[in-house]
Amino acid sequence: MNSIKQRTERERAERAAENEGLPTLGFDSATPYDDYVGTAVLHRLQRTVTDAPEELAFLVTTQVMELYFGLLRSEWRLAQRQLDDDDAAAAITTIKRSVRHFEALNAAWSSLSWLTPAQFNQFRDALGEASGFQSAYYRHVEFLLGIKSEALIRPHRRNPEAYAELVDALARPSLYDSVLAFLARNGFAVPRQATERDHAAEYQPSQQVEAVWVEVYASPLAPLAEALTDLAEQFSDWRYRHLMAVRRSMGAKPGSGGSSGMTWLERSMRREIFPELWTARTLM
Ligand code: HEM
Repeated sequence: MNSIKQRTERERAERAAENEGLPTLGFDSATPYDDYVGTAVLHRLQRTVTDAPEELAFLVTTQVMELYFGLLRSEWRLAQRQLDDDDAAAAITTIKRSVRHFEALNAAWSSLSWLTPAQFNQFRDALGEASGFQSAYYRHVEFLLGIKSEALIRPHRRNPEAYAELVDALARPSLYDSVLAFLARNGFAVPRQATERDHAAEYQPSQQVEAVWVEVYASPLAPLAEALTDLAEQFSDWRYRHLMAVRRSMGAKPGSGGSSGMTWLERSMRREIFPELWTARTLM
């Protein structure tokens, strides 16, 4: 393995010398960058449905966020595997990395935070019933964060692949469940009802788990608690900035996805993630 790496480095050095330090300019077909990134496909995906100049920013921002949902999903599944292997250090590194992704995802709201109702109205009707509410990846992200709801996977019934993934994710432990199971295996007094439960059901917070977090903060595992707190905060930020984008661009009108809009979003925001990680702070 090492010798392959050394050979590649040597070849790179020879090429740089041949090119007199400049980048390679000639290729027989599409550039290796295009092949790797899939640029041709990627840039063909911005199919706007109106001529409104503002629509492209709306579509690209939404697509960027979709990609980040996929990235977060992949990182948290990795963190769960690391926790299952009792590798806390690796899980903390993964969760911290996902916090950075979340910061970048949230920064993308700036690309939309200028949209006025008049500008949005130019393409809002053309979106028909399309709504972010129907994002299967977002729903998966919420399930991984512990916000479980069977009803919310119904929109995907006619999309067998997305539906099967969500049915599976609903029944599986969330990231929080994996953390609690890890803590239970590692000597913390996590009650059995928190670890041996129906993972598809909504998580019920308890005072015992609250006490566990107080202990975790006094232990070498405090960085795990802090990484999860950072994550929860980023998720709150996503929801808040989404709500602001809604308030700013359409006020209290009903949503394209069939909900009452802002009031529905405000209600759904009340479902907090990692609940005892917050309430335990009062006891510290
Ligand atoms: C001006 C921009 C936006 C407006 C006005 C808006 C509006 C709304 C509304 C009204 C809802 C409630 C459901 C419904 O449609 O009836 C909703 C839900 C949602 N939107 Fe947006 N949205 C915007 C941007 C985005 C973007 C860029 C994304 C990124 C993918 C997104 C993702 C979501 C998600 C995931 C939900 C479901 C939230 C939940 O289940 O709690 N939205 N949006």
